Amino acid sequence: MLIRSYRPADEADIIALWQACGLTRPWNDPKKDIARKLTEQPELFLVGEDGGRPVASAMVGFDGHRGWVYYLAVDPAQQRLGWGRALMARAEQLLVERGCPKINLLVRKGNDAVLGFYDSLGYAQDEAVSLGKRLIPDL
Ligand SMILES: CC(C)(COP(=O)(O)OP(=O)(O)OC[C@H]1O[C@@H](n2cnc3c(N)ncnc32)[C@H](O)[C@@H]1OP(=O)(O)O)[C@@H](O)C(=O)NCCC(=O)NCCS
Repeated sequence: MLIRSYRPADEADIIALWQACGLTRPWNDPKKDIARKLTEQPELFLVGEDGGRPVASAMVGFDGHRGWVYYLAVDPAQQRLGWGRALMARAEQLLVERGCPKINLLVRKGNDAVLGFYDSLGYAQDEAVSLGKRLIPDL
């Protein structure tokens, strides 16, 4: 897998990837999520390519205090090959290069399967409760 930054031509493949991985939600318009990311640190929107086709993604950002990773996804047909680990390693490297001291990420309730993945990468559950407030509705 080749890891590179997102390109506009990737949009349909990336949205299909997120749908196949169960990451889309009715309240998040994936096209709008992509468009917003392209306004902030677009180089940190990572795409994994295999045979010229996008098969993995990680939307990474540094907010000046913490690094965040969203939309980590590997094509279900190509999971357990080490590609998720490779994407997270690249995300960590890019964040460290920017002086980011810690990564935070959110795992949706019910997605317990992914906890084993993050555990094997050294991620632990924080003593914190995640709160959110919608500022701009997507729909
Ligand atoms: C999470 C995800 C990106 C992992 O990608 P992947 O390429 O299959 O993972 P890797 O092959 O790099 O696995 C890395 C390690 O995690 C472990 N692992 C992977 N999936 C696991 C699972 N479901 N349960 C337990 N351990 C798991 C692997 O055994 C591997 O450990 P090892 O290298 O020591 O053997 C992929 O399963 C996915 O796209 N899931 C659906 C979307 C999702 O839930 N994203 C995360 C949102 S928070």
